[in-house]
Amino acid sequence: MAFVTVWNYCVPLTIITVACLVNTAHCQAVQAENVTVLEGGTAQISCRLQNYDGSIVVIQNPRRQTLFFNGTRALKDDRFQMVLFTPRLVRITLTNVSVYDEGGYFCQLYTDATHHQVATLSVLVPPETPTVEVKQEAVEGGEVELTCVSPRSKPAATLRWMRNGREIPGVVSQQDNSKTFSVSSTIRIPVERKDNGAALSCEAFHPALSGQKKIRHYRLDVYFAPTVRIVPPSGILREGDSLTLTCSVTGNPLPRNIQWSKINDTLPERAEISGPTLQISRLSQSHNGTYLCQAQNNFGRAADHYTLLVYENVSVTTTVPPTPSTSHPATPTLLTPSFGPDAKDPGAVVETHSAVPYAVIGGVLALLVFTVICVLIVTIWCSVRQKGSYRTREPILAWY
Ligand SMILES: *[C@@H]1O[C@H](CO)[C@@H](O)[C@H](O)[C@H]1NC(C)=O
Ligand SMILES: *[C@@H]1O[C@H](CO)[C@@H](O)[C@H](O)[C@H]1NC(C)=O
Ligand SMILES: *[C@@H]1O[C@H](CO)[C@@H](O)[C@H](O)[C@H]1NC(C)=O
Ligand SMILES: *[C@@H]1O[C@H](CO)[C@@H](O)[C@H](O)[C@H]1NC(C)=O
Ligand SMILES: *[C@@H]1O[C@H](CO)[C@@H](O)[C@H](O)[C@H]1NC(C)=O
Ligand SMILES: *[C@@H]1O[C@H](CO)[C@@H](O)[C@H](O)[C@H]1NC(C)=O
Repeated sequence: MAFVTVWNYCVPLTIITVACLVNTAHCQAVQAENVTVLEGGTAQISCRLQNYDGSIVVIQNPRRQTLFFNGTRALKDDRFQMVLFTPRLVRITLTNVSVYDEGGYFCQLYTDATHHQVATLSVLVPPETPTVEVKQEAVEGGEVELTCVSPRSKPAATLRWMRNGREIPGVVSQQDNSKTFSVSSTIRIPVERKDNGAALSCEAFHPALSGQKKIRHYRLDVYFAPTVRIVPPSGILREGDSLTLTCSVTGNPLPRNIQWSKINDTLPERAEISGPTLQISRLSQSHNGTYLCQAQNNFGRAADHYTLLVYENVSVTTTVPPTPSTSHPATPTLLTPSFGPDAKDPGAVVETHSAVPYAVIGGVLALLVFTVICVLIVTIWCSVRQKGSYRTREPILAWY
């Protein structure tokens, strides 16, 4: 293989190397084509021949190891196959291409004057769907740090963070892992509880994806302390009625246990608790008291309370003092509007409803009185002024 050393100094840039000096009729030539292939794919390396006269054709890999010596396999690598050898075309294939196969493949004619061509093999490594790493977990009022990672591509993939169709600029870092690149893009965004569940995505672009992109979807998981609200029953409650309180709880993570209790007392025996609801059937006045619903997660705790007042059973002669039947600090106004139907009964609403008409009537009366007084004043003033003017004119007329 003496020719190998002979060709080491060559700079193989011409497309066609012509193996003749003067006699163009017998020109031999070889022509090679550059090849781009995806990693794992199959590359076809072709050498076109012109005026082939039976000379020895040698194909070498980028390390200048001879793969085929005029059709005979020289290097022991089964991934290389000679698939064609005609006087016009020599073609080999390389299966399961790796990035280490990249470089110039030499097609050589070993003739009187030796000639060669180089086919440059380029290997593209398209990125996998990127992954998202959470560097700092999202707690409401804080910031979340998310890193989108594309560990391997060639050339380096381009990463883009998106939210609601808008790009969030990230801090990009790129690492060269000999032949392939690892790329990451990090964003930091402030988070509130409304951001919980918000959809983000990280998109990877790459020439080997031919316009497509690999998208990783990510949903923000924002931790927040619970909120608790007791949904109160509507209307006033009387002995024998049943009570249902529902505790509506939020929080991330959602509190697993909801605790019901009665302040300064134990829960009544008849109280039935199933998850967020507390039920007491056949109420009696001994159930009066303040009921508490509590929930907690790692980020805080919350409670809401409801004060139960059970009124006596209605009878025509009852004179129950019309105090508010319920009190609910979080949403006090929710309680009053729902009493309409039995306005005849003593209860909280009777007072609040009647208060409004009295105020209006009082206002109207005051306005009436005020108007009458005004009219009186104006009338008196006018008559006084008229008399005055008559008096002042009298002497003027007297001069004429
Ligand atoms: C083949 O690739 C090499 C190296 O990238 C380049 O110098 C040469 O011009 C290319 N040849 C053709 C025909 O594209
Ligand atoms: C090289 O191989 C070709 C095709 O098989 C053949 O025609 C030619 O004679 C061979 N040349 C030599 C020198 O063996
Ligand atoms: C392809 O090559 C890789 C290493 O480059 C190897 O791990 C894999 O098993 C090969 N696949 C096939 C089908 O030969
Ligand atoms: C209240 O009145 C209802 C209907 O009259 C009756 O069924 C119920 O037993 C009474 N409850 C009490 C505690 O008196
Ligand atoms: C519970 O008891 C304490 C002490 O006896 C008292 O100060 C507090 O007001 C009570 N709370 C309720 C809701 O009754
Ligand atoms: C329960 O509350 C009602 C309404 O305020 C009141 O009339 C009654 O006396 C209370 N009963 C007890 C046992 O506290």
